[in-house]
Amino acid sequence: MINDLWYKNAVIYCLSVGTFMDANGDGIGDFQGLMRRLDYLHGLGVTAIWLMPFQPSPYRDDGYDISDYYGVNTRHGTLGDFVEFTHGAKQRGIRVIMDLVVNHTSDQHPWFQEARRDPNSKYRDWYVWSDKKPSHAKKGMVFPGVQKSTWSYDKEARAWYFHRFYDFQPDLNTSNPHVQAEILKIMGFWIQQGVVGFRMEAVPFVISTKGPQVKKPVEQYDMLRSLREFLQWRAGDSIILAEANVLPETDMEYFGEDGDRMHMMFNFQVNQNLFYALAASDCRPLVQALKATKPRPATAQWGLFLRNHDELDLGRLTEEQRQRVFECFGPEKEMQLYERGIRRRLAPMLNGDRRRIELAYSLMFSLPGTPVVRYGDEIGMGDDLKLPERNCARTPMQWSTEPHAGFTKSAKPILPVISEGPYGYQHVNAAEQRRDPNSLLNWTERIIRMRKEVPGGRLGRL
Ligand code: NOJ
Repeated sequence: MINDLWYKNAVIYCLSVGTFMDANGDGIGDFQGLMRRLDYLHGLGVTAIWLMPFQPSPYRDDGYDISDYYGVNTRHGTLGDFVEFTHGAKQRGIRVIMDLVVNHTSDQHPWFQEARRDPNSKYRDWYVWSDKKPSHAKKGMVFPGVQKSTWSYDKEARAWYFHRFYDFQPDLNTSNPHVQAEILKIMGFWIQQGVVGFRMEAVPFVISTKGPQVKKPVEQYDMLRSLREFLQWRAGDSIILAEANVLPETDMEYFGEDGDRMHMMFNFQVNQNLFYALAASDCRPLVQALKATKPRPATAQWGLFLRNHDELDLGRLTEEQRQRVFECFGPEKEMQLYERGIRRRLAPMLNGDRRRIELAYSLMFSLPGTPVVRYGDEIGMGDDLKLPERNCARTPMQWSTEPHAGFTKSAKPILPVISEGPYGYQHVNAAEQRRDPNSLLNWTERIIRMRKEVPGGRLGRL
């Protein structure tokens, strides 16, 4: 039966439509472009794609500020294109999961607009308000150094609103049953468009109590069960992969003792300790992290990753360990972010050293869990530290030696393509690596094949 659980044997590839492939030449990646690249992904051997947010959004946080949950941003195409894409993926045996961003909306979302305008609106209580500035307004920021507070004053509403992240991302009042019902509706909608699950962002915040009096938020874990129950009724094989950077003691709260909550969680413990092991040549804390995260229900699975679209968060290491990783992989201030992490891509962190890159990948592909590969890492893409915050590691995919790496025919891509230095597209691109049997791309294809062939790894029992 366990063999039926596709997510245990998956190789997930995460990408952002906007920076993957631009088909219509406007400089922004789109679903038609992504469709043209499905055979590339199929050839690489990935079995699932995780799409970062693609809905209408002012794009002030790379789409994690959604202004309409039920649409596709016109810059990426139409809902029709989206369904063509999920169909094309399905034909190739590739499943699609997408980000579920329901901790907050964009401040441009009509719900928030109405809520701030009219105190009697039904949407007022969809957000979290306070008449006075809460005393802890300067606490709990997720983006320290950039974000100044977690409560901001809204002139129109004449009240303070809570935002765990940036001030343009007002938190939804997720304890409100109407909001909870809407979250299910959003999930149900996208399941009908062909996705088989969600990468749910910021789960601990979604389920936390929120409000001006809440100094110590409490997680309402039971909410996770209702999400799962709903999803399973609608589509038995769909999953939720939770972004929850939590301590091992609470893992079971997220998975559920009976495996009735989250199907998967990213293993942030292993991620941070793996980088420490690489930096310090000391694998003991990694072994400890593996032991600490071992207990889980039979149907639950870890998601393993090296780098993702955010900073490499080192917040769970000791101060000494963190400094060691900084020294080794991000010694310059401009490489670090939010007082806790490194914003670089994998290849430059490892000095472009093939042996170290292969070692890191070998670990990710053989430790217990489902590997999640970040687009571009399969060819060893670099970063552009001139770009602000996390954008440095979100530059367009490097396909070939054509202008703008073959990503777009436009003169102005959404973000500059890396075109200088050893990671420039002239040296690092998929077309050339495809022809070279010893390239990182072909090596990655081979390790993916091996991962799928080894049943221990498949089931996360290694
Ligand atoms: C989690 C996402 O991974 C991150 O990129 C985003 O900035 C925050 N959530 C806020 O939406």
